[in-house]
Amino acid sequence: MTFDQWTRQVLDRVESALDHYLPAADVQPAPLHDAMRYAVLGGGKRVRPLLCHAAGELTNAAPEALDAAACALEMIHVYSLVHDDMPCMDDDDMRRGKPTVHVKYDEPTALLVGDALQSQAFVTLTSDVPGLGDAPQRQASLVRELALASGSIGMAGGQAIDLASVGHALTRAELETMHRLKTGALLRAAVRMGALAGETPSADALAALDRYAAAVGLAFQVVDDILDVTADSATLGKTAGKDAKDGKPTYVSIIGLDASRALAQQLRADAHAALEPFGARAQRLAELADLVVNRVS
Ligand code: IPE
Ligand code: IPE
Ligand code: MG
Ligand code: MG
Ligand code: MG
Repeated sequence: MTFDQWTRQVLDRVESALDHYLPAADVQPAPLHDAMRYAVLGGGKRVRPLLCHAAGELTNAAPEALDAAACALEMIHVYSLVHDDMPCMDDDDMRRGKPTVHVKYDEPTALLVGDALQSQAFVTLTSDVPGLGDAPQRQASLVRELALASGSIGMAGGQAIDLASVGHALTRAELETMHRLKTGALLRAAVRMGALAGETPSADALAALDRYAAAVGLAFQVVDDILDVTADSATLGKTAGKDAKDGKPTYVSIIGLDASRALAQQLRADAHAALEPFGARAQRLAELADLVVNRVS
């Protein structure tokens, strides 16, 4: 199977799993469920679900377990995007090529869409599917991974640092910490949850996957910072040039465009090096590192 075929196959199954795990649009309160589905379905690159599936293939995880973990990750991610776009945070009006949730609906709805997606992620992860429902300890460990990655020492903590840093000159170390939390934590969780959804990985294997995920997680936000400067809004599906306008500390603002590009390539090489112990079995993860660094949107 080519990488494109593999990607298409995972994206198709994740899309139908998301449709399944989200309450239907006619379930009451219908306006909230309609908005949740608007935010999640039919858009986004689905990088976290792809990483989760690729890591799970290394430990022979059940595909149904990977679908549930992938959907839970994507729900947390979309919740973070919906809140990130609200006027009290980045105040953006376009996301995934469509009006943001608070623009299309209203601010209270956007707040509640995020809240409800966060809960729905854990409802999804505690589903009775093969590989999870019959393995309560494994299921509990995935719940813990996702909760840690999304909370105050993960995504939410990184967002707090991001907002507090507007207009300040961060050191490079502070910038790296912020990026590792706000974006890296959930990408790292995607890899770890995929691996932990299958046969228990050895401590060495999990450590190698962690090194891979740390590199890919940081690279992802470095590239996001680069694209904010180099790409246009139509390609990105979100407003380009927003970071400089808002005085956000980014890799581009702190080390410049060329050094940011070099760093992204270095992190790609680090990610590949971390996968060496797995040989050809980690091909999908290696290809995903390339995708994250070489993407144009
Ligand atoms: C954007 O994430 C926000 C960051 C964490 C950098 P993505 O670039 O993964 O957004 P989608 O899911 O493809 O829309
Ligand atoms: C967002 O970072 C990270 C999270 C949503 C957790 P950004 O604010 O840079 O993301 P974009 O550029 O709006 O997608
Ligand atoms: Mg932001
Ligand atoms: Mg933003
Ligand atoms: Mg950004």
